[in-house]
Amino acid sequence: MIQITFITNDCRTVTAEDGISLLRIAIREAAGIPFKCGGGVCGTCLCRIERGLAHADAVKPRERRHLTEAELAAGYRLACQTFVTGDVAVSWVPRKPPAEPSGEPPADAPA
Ligand code: FES
Repeated sequence: MIQITFITNDCRTVTAEDGISLLRIAIREAAGIPFKCGGGVCGTCLCRIERGLAHADAVKPRERRHLTEAELAAGYRLACQTFVTGDVAVSWVPRKPPAEPSGEPPADAPA
């Protein structure tokens, strides 16, 4: 078993089976990594492996459509395309929750 730390989710750490995809464990644990397609197409699941990058599997061609060599070297991956075989810590940009309806017009609305 390996340990996955979700940095963006209060550094919550969970245990998972060796070889699992980052997106699969994130969904199972409701960790909050955003996703849409689950197939390496949309790029929504962009994340950064901040520790343990050596435990991630090889970069997939689909990831190269979304990420530069520099980004890959810095640990950026698509969670749905990344399978890990050792402890990692991962962060991501959280999605903004929908704005609360306030009844007030937006500040930039014409008068
Ligand atoms: S969820 Fe669409 S690329 Fe990963």
